[in-house]
Amino acid sequence: MIRHNSFRRTIRRSALTSCLFASLLLSPSLGQDVFPSPTVWASQAPPAVQRSFPKEDPFLLELLAKMTWKEKCGQLTQYAGELTGPQPIKAELFERISTGEIGSVLSVSGAARCRKMQDEAMKSRLKIPLLFAFDVIHGYRTVFPIPISEAASFDPDLAYRAARISATEAASAGINWTFAPMVDLARDPRWGRVIEGAGEDPFLGSVFARARVKGFQGESLESWNTLAACAKHLAGYGAAQGGRDYDTSEISEMTLREAYLPPFEAAMEAGVATVMPSFQETAGRPSHASTFLLNQLLRQEWGFPGVVVSDYGAIEELLNHRIAEGRQEAGALALAATVDIDMMSDIYRTLPLDAETEKAVDQAVLRVLALKKSLGLFDDPYRYLDEAREKSEVLNPKFRAAARRAAARGCVLLENRDSLLPLDLTRVKRVAVIGPLASDTRSALGEWNLVGRVEDTISPLEGLRDNFEARGMEVVHAQGCPSWQTDSSKIQEAIDLAQSSDLVILVLGEPYDVTGESRNRTQLGLPGSQLELLQRVAATGTKTVTVLANGRPLTLGEVSAASPTLLLLWHAGVESGNALFDVIVGDTPIGGKLPMTFPRSVGQVPLYYNHKNSGRPPVEGQEKYRIAYHDSPLTPLYPFGYGLTTSTFELSKPVVVSPPKTWPIVIEGRLTNSGEREADEVPQLYLTDEVRSVTPPVKELKGFQRFTLAPGESVNYRFELSKEDLSFIGLDFERVFEAGWFAVAVGTDSRAEPTFRMRVDSTGLVGLSRPSSDSSEG
Ligand code: BGC
Repeated sequence: MIRHNSFRRTIRRSALTSCLFASLLLSPSLGQDVFPSPTVWASQAPPAVQRSFPKEDPFLLELLAKMTWKEKCGQLTQYAGELTGPQPIKAELFERISTGEIGSVLSVSGAARCRKMQDEAMKSRLKIPLLFAFDVIHGYRTVFPIPISEAASFDPDLAYRAARISATEAASAGINWTFAPMVDLARDPRWGRVIEGAGEDPFLGSVFARARVKGFQGESLESWNTLAACAKHLAGYGAAQGGRDYDTSEISEMTLREAYLPPFEAAMEAGVATVMPSFQETAGRPSHASTFLLNQLLRQEWGFPGVVVSDYGAIEELLNHRIAEGRQEAGALALAATVDIDMMSDIYRTLPLDAETEKAVDQAVLRVLALKKSLGLFDDPYRYLDEAREKSEVLNPKFRAAARRAAARGCVLLENRDSLLPLDLTRVKRVAVIGPLASDTRSALGEWNLVGRVEDTISPLEGLRDNFEARGMEVVHAQGCPSWQTDSSKIQEAIDLAQSSDLVILVLGEPYDVTGESRNRTQLGLPGSQLELLQRVAATGTKTVTVLANGRPLTLGEVSAASPTLLLLWHAGVESGNALFDVIVGDTPIGGKLPMTFPRSVGQVPLYYNHKNSGRPPVEGQEKYRIAYHDSPLTPLYPFGYGLTTSTFELSKPVVVSPPKTWPIVIEGRLTNSGEREADEVPQLYLTDEVRSVTPPVKELKGFQRFTLAPGESVNYRFELSKEDLSFIGLDFERVFEAGWFAVAVGTDSRAEPTFRMRVDSTGLVGLSRPSSDSSEG
């Protein structure tokens, strides 16, 4: 199960440079634990929560023995202090906490508020502390960019640090458990929840899952500044048919294991403390009652000892799925599938008290108590409830600086046809900032945050205005049109400003509330009158940077045609505007890469780079009887891994530098910044397993490294491949290795072409040859 060796080595190196940055940036009060040494960061030591496996813990067994049935069911019941779902809040919440009928709450935050609730728990007979769970998805009060932007940074160390900071802030506000990271693979941009994950690739998804879990959980859950993490939503949630959140997924077990499960396995390796099943059903079974997903895969195959928490009201929803006749039966099904905590259905207290149910309840209670113990709550139920600490940590300026850098590093440069970026400021006196997303501060924050505040947030307009004006330039603004509705009545006003300015920065995209949970789209173009606004601004001839503030891949054909300079900012959090300025003027090099394919049209969806070859693969010019569209190219507009840099780079051909017949196989090459300014580039390693017993993807990402290089500077990129990295899920669903040829490509996006083939058997490398299009073997 331990995989992605090459990545771990990669992290170690990139972590070195990042740690330098971190040590400059972060408050000394955070201590060593916040940014552990790279070696510790890469370590596979079992986490605290797994060491205290409940069955062996006499303290927990003794406590269990004292508990009444009602108290046991109480530990398995979770209730919301504020609402994030359809159920009404119940007035008797406080009373039920004091009688031990509720073991955890969600969506309550703030040390003082949490303290009030913990006081109630301390009035209960056994004084079992409450858990405070919260959706800390992309930051707490210091809102980081949406997770898909973080993935676009291709910098897992950045995601690790963002999670570390978010944990520190949230834990100082009383929280000890986050429902993050979401590690669902997403191949359908219609699905609103693509904002929450790391995109379409199992390797990239695994890398970010590991980084985020380690970031939230740190080295010990007992530290005041760590949170228990939650890998969600197991599994296949991102494959909802038609991109409709909550709808059925149809995934074969092979695809599930090949593509959707690896990020969950990576979260397991990183020691994730909790797991949340997904709302939807797959193959006739909703995940919350899936003995295959939960009992067999999670508990038996992966040996997960931690807590499974239901999604919001999802146990009751088993009735809508029509596999249970009543609430009690729904509860029994979920409990049998080892769902330990019932979030918001309040069903477990209706379970029948019989020997078999009690046995299952006892196991679930032990897991919940073990989590509380690993968080240090039995030693001090108030350990996360320090208002002075909350004051000093929440929205700490140093955290904001990290959020600014994260937002800048998540930017992806889609077009730079006139080499306008980075901007030459000597040529600009008056800048027109135009577009509905420019002053939309709420959208800049992004969809999934509960405590982020508009007043803390620097919108694109504010960031550009403050920074340009500080350099003596004039900034003017017009919205041009609304972000969603069709209304072109104010476009002319924007055109007038564009015509009287030296530069236009046009901020377009999606409003936040068409992204995220349940916010799916069938059209992926710019909404409303935004395309018209863009085309009319472009027609003025004033130099224009088109900036996209959105939460998912969009279909950008016409946008791209009208935008010689096209920059993807995403919904970039509290520091959106400052980060935008940083990348536009080149203070932070633009080097992000797309973690999801950007299709040409909705009709191409789902479209992802690591698809299978088929019996009739496409051949250019031979459309008939081959995979093809009659009315569109097959290729995407922007492929996975794509993103331009603001310099020119030379990437030498990769070579194997390790001796034959040893593991790992080490592949190296040289990356040189041959341009005239500091810039970023991300060499990416793609492998193609040429023949194997289960059809292979056409290529698979197996390593990447993001570098910042000064003009003329060179570095060696280096990837290490273990035998495990070359293995795959066999026909019997076990991981297998088969000897054979692998084509090796290193490039700067997923279109990279192989430059050599390597023959590998169980001893390691046993042969090399030119790519198969070259017939001569070397
Ligand atoms: C979402 C979860 C979230 C939960 C609690 C649900 O609607 O699917 O991802 O953690 O609400 O807010």
